[in-house]
Amino acid sequence: MIIEEKVLHGVCLTAHPTGCRTYTTDEITFVEDACKGLEGDRYKPFEKTHPKALVLGCSTGYGLSSRIVLSFGCGADTLGVSFERSPKKNRCATPGWYNTKVFEEKAAHEGLYCKTLDGDAFSDAMKQQVAQLIKEELGKVDLVIYSLASPVRIDPVTGETYKSVLKPVGKDFTSLSLDPATGQIGQVTLSAADEKQVEATIKVMGGEDWLLWIDYLSKQGCLADGAKTIAYSYIGPNITAPIYRNGTIGQAKKDLERTVPKLNGIMAGIDGKAYVSVNKALVTRASAVIPVVPLYITILYRIMKQKGLHESCIEQMYRLYRDKFPAEMVEEDGLLHMDDFEMQQDVQDEVRKIWATLHEGQVIGDEELEQFRTDYAHLHGFGYRTIDYGKDVDPLNP
Ligand code: NAI
Repeated sequence: MIIEEKVLHGVCLTAHPTGCRTYTTDEITFVEDACKGLEGDRYKPFEKTHPKALVLGCSTGYGLSSRIVLSFGCGADTLGVSFERSPKKNRCATPGWYNTKVFEEKAAHEGLYCKTLDGDAFSDAMKQQVAQLIKEELGKVDLVIYSLASPVRIDPVTGETYKSVLKPVGKDFTSLSLDPATGQIGQVTLSAADEKQVEATIKVMGGEDWLLWIDYLSKQGCLADGAKTIAYSYIGPNITAPIYRNGTIGQAKKDLERTVPKLNGIMAGIDGKAYVSVNKALVTRASAVIPVVPLYITILYRIMKQKGLHESCIEQMYRLYRDKFPAEMVEEDGLLHMDDFEMQQDVQDEVRKIWATLHEGQVIGDEELEQFRTDYAHLHGFGYRTIDYGKDVDPLNP
């Protein structure tokens, strides 16, 4: 079957098995190269040399990179949970399905435990399945990574479906925005969310489900002494604040951050600890659909690259688990800050300077647009020069 890149309203609907193999292998190679020369070619953010981790949202973006760093950088056994579409003879899977297959193949080759459950992490059934598997096959876990990004959640108690929205809160927001298909800058007006929409977004992307996970795993005796849990957040600059930090998604992220003390309470008995890491804005399947953010990212990337500060998902996660997480480098706000380079004064000054020169109808520079498009294409296994996309591929085998 020949699999072509199909993009509709900025969302890629297909995934290329060979390209997803390249994407995942490149991330693994980055970690292996970075660890060369260390004792045992591993680094040790945990006291144990063979830690065990549960990664919720393990198949793409930050979750996949976290799992790769833990496995290939720290020798961790990992159990993953994702929500991906499997392939059929004549239909490709979603990218995360292919990424996971490649990850599992390579981790097994290294002798590491790696299992992945595909299904709804918000459900009680998935929590029960995971706890049972931990007890039977891992004993306990040392780390739980919470890296879910989802537009919808069914409340496991009431059965009600909540849909998150990406909207400003309080008043409408008009801003410049990028159409990645044409490279043209346009103006968008986003209407303010109503109270119900804010609540729904908090239900989906806030801390409630993280809390349910840790509470359940703790009650089931699945957390090792000194276990840690970490979730990912984003803050960003004033330019994106009305749609991000002060918008519906930002309210959810604040809720997630406020969950930390509650989790610390639950895990006090095992001397466990919870963290939130504020990561850098990156092109992922989740971030590419947030209005205004793609335009900000194209400018940010240019500046960070010029200054030698740019990091990809895997570079961010490598630095997190090598430096900030083991050293517990939380800042005054109680958060780990992997957005330190992004939020540097000189970087943000330049972003603002360039932003002020942008106007409606302008077409963004080829180089910047290409970078955004290539990064987005790579997430789905497209855009690799080394791959002949006209060639037949088996959608069942990456
Ligand atoms: P992503 O879309 O690449 O990955 C989401 C993961 O969640 C996938 O593995 C997917 O299969 C899984 N998933 C979604 N719904 C699920 C469900 N119901 N059950 C089980 N698994 C499910 O997203 P990305 O960007 O890596 O985001 C991960 C976290 O990082 C999110 O909390 C996001 O807000 C945060 N973050 C992202 C930033 C960015 O720029 N991309 C910046 C800072 C934080």
